[in-house]
Amino acid sequence: MNEREIRVQETSRYIREQITDEPVSIAMILGSGLGVMAQELETPITLNYHDIPGFPVSTVVGHAGELVTGYLEGKRVMVMNGRFHYYEGHSMDTLAFPVQVMKSLGIEHLLVTNAAGCVNVAWNPGDLMVISDHIKLISDNPLRGENPGMLGERFFDMSEAYDKKLRALAHRCAGEIGITLREGIYQLFSGPSFETPAEVRFARMCGADAVGMSTVPEVIAANHAGMKVLGISCMTNMAAGILSQPLNHQEVLETGENVKSTFIALVRKIVGAWDL
Ligand code: HPA
Repeated sequence: MNEREIRVQETSRYIREQITDEPVSIAMILGSGLGVMAQELETPITLNYHDIPGFPVSTVVGHAGELVTGYLEGKRVMVMNGRFHYYEGHSMDTLAFPVQVMKSLGIEHLLVTNAAGCVNVAWNPGDLMVISDHIKLISDNPLRGENPGMLGERFFDMSEAYDKKLRALAHRCAGEIGITLREGIYQLFSGPSFETPAEVRFARMCGADAVGMSTVPEVIAANHAGMKVLGISCMTNMAAGILSQPLNHQEVLETGENVKSTFIALVRKIVGAWDL
């Protein structure tokens, strides 16, 4: 075993001891303002990131930093309430670590959510978007370095990084509860600066519908480990340059807050219908 594999195993052993033996079906990584989902779990077991050996610690406002295991719509889920970002100074492989631990715990399904800037001018703040694919022009990669072979192959396919069946499931669920659900491409920017208007135009030319500062590293790690991924973005604001007003983080949090109940309803529906 290489060093990475040993670390993943040590951390997952600790978590397994804390959460008992019943298998967890779905892991969830929740973005800005959406961490409230963690409070929706029944019979929760909460582990503070600080107390988990080898686990990174989150620094951003609005991200609590706890791993909550419990039941949602009858499924056993593990929620990362508080995620790690590249802009915090974490390396990409640090962002991959929790996902690799989840896989090592036997979890095969990952739901990721995030706040994103809306690049598609036909859409509006507050819209939810199923991620169909992503663009990462940052040259760094979370799997750079020695390959943790117990998790996956050195070179791995990304041609359906966001599972087609899960995307269809999300649309079905949205239809059933009467929510408009967009589908589109998410482009990663490193942050913490928001994009410039020129960068947003560039993203649109690339084919992106949304821009954001998270998710992609975790999704790459999940694909490496053979997990099935569903990603949903909340368009918290029109991306820079589209409207004649500056962007701020407060707006991101406020829109997240306004959309919260709709978002939770959708996630509940999806988790309930999730075909394991
Ligand atoms: N850009 C990047 N990340 C974001 C944005 C944005 O406009 N809004 C929320 N997260």
